[in-house]
Amino acid sequence: MRRSSTTLLFAFFLSLLLLQRPIYASKKSYVVYLGDHIHGARESPSEVEGEEEESYNKRVTESHYDLLSSVLGDNKEAQDAIFYSYTNYINGFAAMLEEDTANAIAKYPGVVSVFPNRGHKLHTTRSWKFMGLERDGAGAVAGDSLWTRARFGEDTIIANLDTGVWPESESFKDEGLGPIPSKWKGICQNDFDKSFSCNRKLIGARYFNKGYAAFVGGLNSTFDTPRDTDGHGTHTLSTAGGSFVPGANVFGYGNGTAKGGSPRARVVAYKVCWPPVNGSECFDADILAAFDAAIHDGVGVISVSLGGNPDSFFDDGLAIGSFHAVRKGITVSCSAGNSGPMPGSVSNTAPWIFTVGASTMDREFPAYAIFGDKKLKGQSLSPTRLAKNKLYPMVSSKDAKAANQSENDAELCFLGSLDPKKVKDKIVVCLRGINARVEKGEAVLEAGGAGMVLANDVTTGNEIIADAHVLPATHITYSDGKVLFSYLQSTQSPHGYITKAITELNTKPAPFMAAFSSQGPNTVNPEILKPDITAPGVSVIAAYTRASSPTGLAFDHRRVSFNSDSGTSMSCPHISGVVGLLKTLYPRWSPAAIKSAIMTSARTRDNKEEPMLNSSFVRATPFSYGSGHVRPNRAMDPGLVYDLTTSDYLNFLCALGYKADQLALFTTGTAPYKCPAKPIRLEDFNYPSITVPNLSGSITVSRTVKNVGPPGTYTVRVRPPKAIQIAVRPKSLKFDSVGEEKKFQVTLKVENRAAASDYVFGVLVWSDGKRYVRSPLVVKVARRKP
Ligand SMILES: *[C@@H]1O[C@H](CO)[C@@H](O)[C@H](O)[C@H]1NC(C)=O
Ligand SMILES: *[C@@H]1O[C@H](CO)[C@@H](O)[C@H](O)[C@H]1NC(C)=O
Ligand SMILES: *[C@@H]1O[C@H](CO)[C@@H](O)[C@H](O)[C@H]1NC(C)=O
Ligand SMILES: *[C@@H]1O[C@H](CO)[C@@H](O)[C@H](O)[C@H]1NC(C)=O
Ligand SMILES: *[C@@H]1O[C@H](CO)[C@@H](O)[C@H](O)[C@H]1NC(C)=O
Ligand SMILES: *[C@@H]1O[C@H](CO)[C@@H](O)[C@H](O)[C@H]1NC(C)=O
Repeated sequence: MRRSSTTLLFAFFLSLLLLQRPIYASKKSYVVYLGDHIHGARESPSEVEGEEEESYNKRVTESHYDLLSSVLGDNKEAQDAIFYSYTNYINGFAAMLEEDTANAIAKYPGVVSVFPNRGHKLHTTRSWKFMGLERDGAGAVAGDSLWTRARFGEDTIIANLDTGVWPESESFKDEGLGPIPSKWKGICQNDFDKSFSCNRKLIGARYFNKGYAAFVGGLNSTFDTPRDTDGHGTHTLSTAGGSFVPGANVFGYGNGTAKGGSPRARVVAYKVCWPPVNGSECFDADILAAFDAAIHDGVGVISVSLGGNPDSFFDDGLAIGSFHAVRKGITVSCSAGNSGPMPGSVSNTAPWIFTVGASTMDREFPAYAIFGDKKLKGQSLSPTRLAKNKLYPMVSSKDAKAANQSENDAELCFLGSLDPKKVKDKIVVCLRGINARVEKGEAVLEAGGAGMVLANDVTTGNEIIADAHVLPATHITYSDGKVLFSYLQSTQSPHGYITKAITELNTKPAPFMAAFSSQGPNTVNPEILKPDITAPGVSVIAAYTRASSPTGLAFDHRRVSFNSDSGTSMSCPHISGVVGLLKTLYPRWSPAAIKSAIMTSARTRDNKEEPMLNSSFVRATPFSYGSGHVRPNRAMDPGLVYDLTTSDYLNFLCALGYKADQLALFTTGTAPYKCPAKPIRLEDFNYPSITVPNLSGSITVSRTVKNVGPPGTYTVRVRPPKAIQIAVRPKSLKFDSVGEEKKFQVTLKVENRAAASDYVFGVLVWSDGKRYVRSPLVVKVARRKP
């Protein structure tokens, strides 16, 4: 059959259409952020002049279509482009847009910001980037008395933005729990996975994947589920609010009763993280949708163990979402990041966020590397053991490289980098770094090795982590590694052994800071010390998915109900759990008051009563631990708190230079917010720590403390930073009643410029003799002009 000319013509036009595809493909997903809803400052969306929530939401969505169509010139096109319309507390939408369109919208009045829908990362160490230390989580949040007094957090609903949840885990059984609190307004989604269900413990679950889909270009229905196939979300949620589970262990290690910080809290999973694509797994558009839902659903704490690079607040879904949550009285705790020990690596730096670093606890899983006359203590959770009464030949992985591989890759034990002939039945010594610690074990096992000793490099120092390796293995410190490497080099026929690990408690020193824990200074606004606090984040044992292996390697077919994991991802939910207790105990306290209570009662000494160390066993600084290590029992009776309101945060943003017309899109009370005529000084922001990042001559900063304890008189004591003079006025504060506020001033003066060339640290303490309200002092002297 001959084709008619019309068909040819049609084919020609079709080819033109196809040629245009690259233009369509240039569309990317963006978030358009519009600030507040008119009811932003009120109790709930449904309170808006009696209007039904549903019709209000519809009206908001239509206003989003109108805004976009005024740029695109077509309402249908606008509707097709928008994949999220945020209608509850956050005002804005996410849409597929051309860059030009995005730029045009950004100029509209009524638009706070327009930013690309970027991916963030989970803050776990089980990734190819090497990180740090580990600790076991089961006994981490000690303190029966806060537990008892706060009834194990039973009035609190804890939300987790993560990879979802494994609902069948014992940590989420609902035995002994009463009816679901009436404040809960959320749902339990199980669209694809009909086997997914909630109960009176896991009261809700939702998934948000449209932002992820926009990035990867479409998803099939298997993604329509809040089920956790990764393990991260189950681990973090159970750390914050898991029930008591006796006999929890990883291959028999760390056996004990697993529990979250608020074991009787109700928990909710908001799944916003998906299998990583090009290193991105949790997208801004989904994070915002989850925050908007969580605020609506009635949660009291939001735990977020993920983040990106430090960024401007209005270009960051996490900073925006948490701002809206905090102004509704919800505390948001976030992981500081695992990019330490590099200075300035801390993320989630907004002052309304509770930013958590990671440190060790006093539990170890020692497995010894034995060779020559040495017995070096490493750590491991390997379930398998070497044959007894036998020494194994040992080889450095660098010396066992496969012919076509680089020495560098072999040294790090990359998959396929080792020569089976050189490692067969030997103990292979690998260097830490780049690829996952457990993957190095896989590389050795695949090449026929009998066991592995994993040695730290200089950056990771003494931070050794107990992993559930796929072969007999142990992880040793940098200095021990040097001893071992020199033995291998100087010995004709090196032989050795690795003992099976045991569980050891009350180890010292503990805590010390994990090398991976991201550090200050805060590069976004250096006047605010970040991180705020540290909590256990090394070798934490908590519930896990059964859809993946304990190492996360496809090669590994083992399944566990509890797993050990490390990262600030693991420390963050420890703080969320403690916050859950304080919220049950003090339902009216603001997020800032709860945060202040936890920060000012934190401890900076370890269990040897020495200053807390970093993983090189050198004294750590507030840039790694913030105010110190959480002390739950002290946090319940802080005496005084440094409180903050939404207006304070908005004043802070004004002072940072955010534009007044952007900030007018937020309401305080019932009126649009207005920047103060004279901006506040960032140093005066009422934070529970004091940072002066550029001190020249002297400065006087002010703070206000609120009494939340019995009447009493507090006097001040100061340990000044090196070469800085500190004067506090007044020196004592007398409180007659609860809720009373008192102001004080701190004058910081350069005493010796030469002696204070870098950041220096001190502490300021208010005490009534029983309570100690500690604030770190962090100062950097301005550089003299050249
Ligand atoms: C991921 O990165 C690769 C290589 O840079 C690129 O070709 C691909 O398009 C990226 N994928 C996505 C979804 O951005
Ligand atoms: C859905 O997509 C995932 C990821 O692309 C793929 O592995 C899976 O096989 C797909 N499932 C179905 C039922 O199409
Ligand atoms: C864990 O402890 C429980 C209670 O003490 C005990 O019954 C159980 O056998 C232990 N399990 C392991 C694997 O040690
Ligand atoms: C190295 O050699 C092995 C075995 O001959 C082969 O499987 C592998 O693909 C090679 N790798 C490279 C990078 O050439
Ligand atoms: C520990 O602190 C010392 C002194 O500040 C520093 O040189 C070292 O790099 C730090 N180590 C780690 C792992 O943070
Ligand atoms: C620090 O203070 C000095 C002296 O007042 C000033 O010249 C300099 O610009 C300031 N640096 C920053 C980063 O603010």
